[in-house]
Amino acid sequence: MKNWKKNSWRKYPVKHIPEYPNKKELDTVLDKLGTFPPLVFAGETRHLKSQLADVVDGNAFLLQGGDCAESFAEFNPDNIRDTFKVILQMSLVLTYSASLPVIKLGRIAGQFAKPRSAPTEKKGDIELPSYLGDNVNGIDFNEKARKHDPKRLFRAYSQSASTLNLLRAFSHGGFADLKKVHLWNLGYIKKSPQAKKFSELEDKIADALSFMDACGINSEFNRRLKTVNFWTSHEALHLPFEESMTRVDSTTGENHATSAHFVWIGDRTRQLEGGHVEYCRGIENPIGIKCGPTSKPEEIVKICNLINPKNEKGKITLISRFGHDSVGKFLPKLIRGIKKEGVNVIWSCDPMHGNTIQSTTGYKTRRFNSVLKEVKDVFAVHQSEGTYAGGLHIEMTGQNVTECTGGAKNIQDQDLSSRYHTHCDPRLNADQALELAFLISDEIKKNSSYSKNADRAAS
Ligand code: PEP
Ligand code: CO
Repeated sequence: MKNWKKNSWRKYPVKHIPEYPNKKELDTVLDKLGTFPPLVFAGETRHLKSQLADVVDGNAFLLQGGDCAESFAEFNPDNIRDTFKVILQMSLVLTYSASLPVIKLGRIAGQFAKPRSAPTEKKGDIELPSYLGDNVNGIDFNEKARKHDPKRLFRAYSQSASTLNLLRAFSHGGFADLKKVHLWNLGYIKKSPQAKKFSELEDKIADALSFMDACGINSEFNRRLKTVNFWTSHEALHLPFEESMTRVDSTTGENHATSAHFVWIGDRTRQLEGGHVEYCRGIENPIGIKCGPTSKPEEIVKICNLINPKNEKGKITLISRFGHDSVGKFLPKLIRGIKKEGVNVIWSCDPMHGNTIQSTTGYKTRRFNSVLKEVKDVFAVHQSEGTYAGGLHIEMTGQNVTECTGGAKNIQDQDLSSRYHTHCDPRLNADQALELAFLISDEIKKNSSYSKNADRAAS
């Protein structure tokens, strides 16, 4: 890798990196973090990348989901378990409809730092630094909380480590056993239409499992029926932190971000000549690139070539997030630009970030129907361009929150205040996330690029 070092991003212009009042203290924290154990291992990251290569070829689907911003306040085992459950449920629905393996990638165990639209926030006469995520400052609107404190990075590291530990236990300790799908249901969605559909799916799976059992294939002998691979991801925004977590893999001599298996570059920091792209070009991890309305196809091609000069499959995921009424305006051009240059990418759809609005009651929200429309439009565009809609990227939680409106329970603007807990953007609750998975599975059944998998699965 030419002229790349884990700190070479420092020579480039960077946006959205917090300034710290005490640089010496920041350096002490970063030096210490540099001696801490990696959160993930290079071999795992390579494994994920090889699975993602299957998505490029249309042989798997990528489901990426979790919090917009993890917080210290919401850190508890039940929240981790419930988010994990919903992702398992969604992936089961998608696996069943597409006859494809679903790669499960959490926005979890490190998704703290946030880019904000303004550096300061004003309430009345008081103006304070904006909240930049719990690893930087606190959400409360007072001077003390909003001070950038490098020691918060230690707490974020430790929360990520324990979150990951629990996720690994859930994935491999029996909880993900297909025989236990009924345990993945969350109490509060039991009465919803999704719960009924999911229970029908459970019955079909139980039938299939007993048939396989009769043929001698069961989870006692086949590990894949009782474990899952669950991967972690976050936005590689806080580059000083990412630099301290970058390690050389002793088996290959390659550099890896060890803060997560997959990292992405946000829509606001994907400048070709910027520090975030510079950092990401040197690490071996799979990389996501968010593409919003300001992205230019030629520039995205250049970024892909810089980050992935060997055009390796599975290395780059383009995450489109244009907004429900703009997909037709931007996505076809982007697809054509990428196709023309023969760049290998996974096409994932983030139907959340282009659809954030202010509710009539003052809350930041998203309409479920806008989210769904963006997904449908994205599927339709890929269908007509002959590309494969291979992924979904969503902000969701297993908690029974009221942050996005609509869905089967038809949450209204007036309901938002009841359980609005997010530290940043509004998330789909479990009900809405599962409903989205069922609706997407209907799209998948209509889409010709998936029917080839169903044919193959049937043959
Ligand atoms: C995010 O994914 O939380 C985010 C900030 O997205 P984007 O960069 O697409 O705005
Ligand atoms: Co967000």
